[in-house]
Amino acid sequence: MGQGGVSSLRNDLLQQCPSFNKKEVCPVKAESCPCPGRKLRINVHHAQERESKRWAMELHDSVAQTLGCIILDFDTFITSIYEENMIKRAHEIKYKLQNLYDTLREMLFELRAPYMEEGLAKSLENYLERVAENTNIKFNAEITKNFTGVHQMVQVEIFRIVQEAVTNIKKHSHASEATVKVIFKGDCIQIYVADNGRGFDVNKLKGDRNVDNKHFGLISIKERTQMLGGDFILNSEPGKGTVIDITIPPIGTMGSGLIWNRSE
Ligand SMILES: Nc1ncnc2c1ncn2[C@@H]1O[C@H](COP(=O)(O)OP(=O)(O)O)[C@@H](O)[C@H]1O
Ligand SMILES: [Mg+2]
Repeated sequence: MGQGGVSSLRNDLLQQCPSFNKKEVCPVKAESCPCPGRKLRINVHHAQERESKRWAMELHDSVAQTLGCIILDFDTFITSIYEENMIKRAHEIKYKLQNLYDTLREMLFELRAPYMEEGLAKSLENYLERVAENTNIKFNAEITKNFTGVHQMVQVEIFRIVQEAVTNIKKHSHASEATVKVIFKGDCIQIYVADNGRGFDVNKLKGDRNVDNKHFGLISIKERTQMLGGDFILNSEPGKGTVIDITIPPIGTMGSGLIWNRSE
C-alpha cells in the first residue's frame, strides 16, 4: 500500500471517532481507546519507528561495516603502490569511498531512534548541535525544557517532524541561519522551523505529484501532524526562505489526537 493508501485509510477511520466528529474531549487513554482511528494511528507510529530501527540495523551491519573494512583494506593496498600517478588516483578513490562512508553514517544517525529517556528537549538539543557541527548553518533554538505529561509517542513524533524539517534545510535550503522552536504556546505545543535560505515554489508540490516523484519528507510532516490532531502551515517562496509552523492541541481541543496532558 502506498503512502496515499495508508493516509486515506487513516482518515476514514478518523471519521469514525465520535470525539473527533463532535470536536470534544476524548475521555479515554490512548492505549485503551477502542476507537479504530486512534488504534491505527498508534500502530502506524510503532510500525514507522520499528521500520527505521530495522533499516538502521541492516544498513549498519551490512553496508557500513563492509564499507569500513574495504576502506581499511584499500589503505593497506595503497602502501603497495609505487607509481606516482597510481598513488594519486588511489587516494582520489579513497576520498570518494570515505565520503560515501560519512554519508552513510549520517543516514544511520538520522534513522536511529531518538533517546527519549533523556527527554525531548535534550534529544532535540543534541540533534541540533550535531547538525550544526556538520554544516555551516547557525541554529537558533528555543525548546521548552520540560515536556513531562506529553505522551512518549507524541514526543517521538515531534522529534521526527523537526528532524525531517531540519534535514530539508540541510539538503535544500542553502541557508546560513535557521530557527527551531518547540514550545508550549497557550494550551498548545508549537513546532516552528524556519530558514533564511533559497525557498521554493510551494504550488509545485500540490496534489500527488510529489508522491509520484518520491518526495515524502513534507508529506510525512503533514501526516504526523494530522496524526497528532494538529495544524500544519508551510510557507515558502523562491528567494524568501521557508517556514514550517505547526500547532498541536492538547487533549480537549481535538480529542482524537494521540493524547498529551500537561497536568499528568
Ligand atoms: N527548507 C527548504 N528549502 C528549500 N527547499 C525546500 C525546503 N524544504 C523542502 N524543499 C523543497 O521541497 C521538495 C520536497 O521536500 P521533501 O518532501 O522533504 O522531499 P525531499 O527532501 O526528499 O526532496 C524538496 O525537493 C525541495 O525542492
Ligand atoms: Mg526531505
